[in-house]
This record gives sequence, structure tokens and C-alpha cells, in this order.
Amino acid sequence: MKPVHDENRNLTIISEFILLGLPIQPDLKALFYALFLAMYLTTILGNMLIILLISLDSHLHTPMYLFLSNLSFSDMCFSSVTIPKLLINMESKKPTIPYPGCLTQMYFFLFFGDLESFLLVAMAYDRYVAICYPLHYTVMMSPKLCSSLVVLSWVLTTFHAMLQTLLMSRVSFCDNNIIPHFFCDTSALLKLACSDIHINELVLFMAVGLIIVIPFLLIVISYARILSSILRVPSVRGIRKAFSTCGSHLSVVSLFYGMIIGLYLCPSANNSTLKETVMSIMYTVVTPMLNPFIYSLRNQDIKGAFKKFLEGRKIPNTLGL
Ligand SMILES: *[C@@H]1O[C@H](CO)[C@@H](O)[C@H](O)[C@H]1NC(C)=O
Repeated sequence: MKPVHDENRNLTIISEFILLGLPIQPDLKALFYALFLAMYLTTILGNMLIILLISLDSHLHTPMYLFLSNLSFSDMCFSSVTIPKLLINMESKKPTIPYPGCLTQMYFFLFFGDLESFLLVAMAYDRYVAICYPLHYTVMMSPKLCSSLVVLSWVLTTFHAMLQTLLMSRVSFCDNNIIPHFFCDTSALLKLACSDIHINELVLFMAVGLIIVIPFLLIVISYARILSSILRVPSVRGIRKAFSTCGSHLSVVSLFYGMIIGLYLCPSANNSTLKETVMSIMYTVVTPMLNPFIYSLRNQDIKGAFKKFLEGRKIPNTLGL
């Protein structure tokens, strides 16, 4: 499947792109290769462990942990979209990616990136209900609502990733097929386009609003309400409870949005490509790796499940399944 050009300009058909990768000095290549490989393996193992612990321990079959398990799955996939290809390209002499591969990568990058954003909103809502309506928690966060939220996230994210990818497949590329990035990023691809990309830019702009700003606002609103409900009846116990259950989520949210805000909202004049690359590394490699640690190091339930897992591998099943 090659892009077809029916314009009367002198266009060449591009069948592959060259991913320039990271601006690493040749003598440091091996070091960075080992570093990224180690980080990738940590991401996969850490997140798999979270999913395993949650599925094995019936105490953790609550909305909060089911969402966390979904987030871990999404983290695992998100880093698998970019890092293996980055590692392969670091080794090869000609770091190329075929055109269909590039669009596929773009699709899944958007898909799992959005999914993460939506799941963080669902988790914030869960914390909001748990703190502000503790007595109605089980009724309000019913299994049906939880699975609806997960399904809704998948539907929205499929729709968005599909839309962006279809729009990108209509874009024509000329001679320049060098992407100064380590994966097929939507805006990096649009910079190479030589056909009209107004509609792509418009959709990208709106998507940033809908998928980054609105979830961020929803999370901020949830936390504002949590905060005001704690402050209304301030007690050490209440504050501690809120902190212990929201702390991990708040850390993940800050990490996720901190990166995005740093990347998009603080443009720097000098060396923006380098900054962009470093930020992209942060959110494709570092965030998915840290999420399981943030949750497991601060969380007694996960620690407890891990201990039980190590000790007997027999986890008491209160549901009698
Ligand atoms: C994701 O969440 C849904 C709904 O809470 C749950 O049923 C499902 O098991 C979770 N999936 C994973 C992979 O954890």
C-alpha cells in the first residue's frame, strides 16, 4: 500500500521513512542501548507483575485496582509501540520504517496514549466517589459502570486514533522522508508533508484539546472536590486516608501531565528538537516504567499481595471461587 499522488506536481512515491532516532554520540550508543533495553524490560516485568498480583488476589478486585490493571496493560503496550523499534533501529545501519509500518505505529501510539489519559480520568472519578461518597461507593462504582468506563475509553480512543491515521494516509510526501525522531510521531510526519495539511492540523489541535485538556480538567475538578470535602471536616485520619488512597494516583497524574505540559506548553527557542526528543523519551520510556513502582512502593495492598505471592503463592480467595 503506497501513497498515491494524483496531483500534477513532481512527486516521488515514498515507500519508507528513515527514523533518525536519538542524537547519541557513536561511542555512547552501546550504553544507551543497554539502558533502554533495561528500562523496557523493567516496564514489561513491572507492569506484568501488577496485572498478575491484581488478578490473583481477590481483595484487589475493586474498581481502583481493576483500573490500575488496565493502566498497566496500557503502559506495557504503549512502550512496546516505540521502544522495540527504537532498539532495532539503533543497531541497524539504515534505520528505516516502511510506510504502512509508520502509520501502524502512529495508530497504536495514539491509541495507547489516549487510553492512558482516559483511564487516569476514570481513576480520578473512582477516588472522588471513594472520598466524597464513601457510603455509596459500592453502589455508585458498580462493576457495570466500571466496565462501561473502560469500554467507553476504548471506543473513544479507537475513534481518535483511526481518524488521525486515516487523515494521515491522505497526506502526500515528497523527497524528504527523514523523520528527525525515533518513532512516527504525528506532528513530525506532518512537517514532512507536501500536500495540504490544514485539516490534519485542525484535527490534531482539537484532539489535543479533547484528549489532554478535558481529561486534565476533569481530574483537577475531582481533586478539588476531594480537597474541599477533606477540608470541610479536617481530621488527621481523613487526611491520611485521602493521602494514602489518592497519593499514588496523584503522582502518576502529575508525572503524565507534567511531561505533556512541559512538552507542549513551554516552548523553548533554542534546541527545541533536542528538548522534544528528551521529553518524548520521558513519556514513552520513563512514565510507563515508573507507574508500577509508584503504585507498588506506596501501596500497602499491593505490597501485601506481593508478599503473599512470594510466600505461599496461595492467596486466600474470599469469594470462594
Ligand atoms: C479492566 O477493567 C475492567 C472493568 O473494571 C475489568 O473487568 C478488566 O478485567 C480490566 N482489564 C484488565 C486487563 O485488567
